[in-house]
Amino acid sequence: MVGAERESITQRAFTGGLPADAFIDATLADIHRRYLGLDDGEVADYIPILAEADPSRFGLSLIESAGAVHEIGDADLEFSIQSISKAFVFALVCQARSTELVHERVGVNNTGLPFNSVMAIELNDGKPLNSMVNAGAIATTALMPGATSAEKWENIRSGLSRFAGRQLRLDGRVYQSEMEANQRNKALARLLESYGRIITDPLDTVDVYTRQCSLLVTAHDLAVMGATLADGGINPLTRSRVVSAEVARDTLALLASCGMYENSGEWLFEIGLPAKSGVSGGIVAIAPGKGALGTYSPRLDSAGNSVRGQRACFHISRALGMNLFASNAVERPWKG
Ligand code: DON
Repeated sequence: MVGAERESITQRAFTGGLPADAFIDATLADIHRRYLGLDDGEVADYIPILAEADPSRFGLSLIESAGAVHEIGDADLEFSIQSISKAFVFALVCQARSTELVHERVGVNNTGLPFNSVMAIELNDGKPLNSMVNAGAIATTALMPGATSAEKWENIRSGLSRFAGRQLRLDGRVYQSEMEANQRNKALARLLESYGRIITDPLDTVDVYTRQCSLLVTAHDLAVMGATLADGGINPLTRSRVVSAEVARDTLALLASCGMYENSGEWLFEIGLPAKSGVSGGIVAIAPGKGALGTYSPRLDSAGNSVRGQRACFHISRALGMNLFASNAVERPWKG
């Protein structure tokens, strides 16, 4: 066997590929039908306006690295990105500053505690531990280039738009509602300031962070954004490079360990994909080299992760052979 031939076979054995289009479409349709009637969980209400979400909505989008789009249900319904923004802001800051800087200032380890924990900071000499929990995300947003908060915000909005391949816009009502209810995030920012972990104005930084969480996306956008990370930083639809392959790899590594908060270990065990969830009901799950899944369904479990979204990711990951740790596609029933 010649060298090039051996290399391509080795690559196939490592990464595999996704099944044929018709099989992907049938799988998405089956999973959507299976869970449309599931009404476990509660819509988030600690940000008052999120309680207005229609709990019946359910959208799935899978976008392949090569650009093929597979969707069903409410894949084009807009909702606020919330915590999913943290993954992409982390990538933008690593790209613009350096991964080492974020590693040193914020950290890359799971806190083992809920996403808005104060205790995680106190237990670690003021280090927020990772950019996926609120304190670490605020500290990461503080590192975004920009001489003023307005410039930092514009850099975030345009950067996340490059990931999505379209201009994302702010939902002013979500932003206002969260700004009236985010005393805890303001307290986290003040605590970080007291430890010297952020040197920007803490309340201005929370304002920018709240804006990034209030950007409107769809399940389709999440799949495009995730597929950009799956393809080493190249947007599958615009074919433009958004971040380097190294930054895309580092972002996926962080999502694998921290993207689903204190449930990240269980998530990796069951679903086997780097992922990020948001409190408005979105999930993005990424299969490196293959593509990404974006889901939307607003009812959440007690850790703040979408109930139907998690189940959809579980079955789709297994049925399509997306799990990082599996060499073959294997389907088995959802636990419990
Ligand atoms: O800061 C907050 O609490 C919200 N803007 C985002 C939290 C979130 O999405 C947690 N996700 N499950």
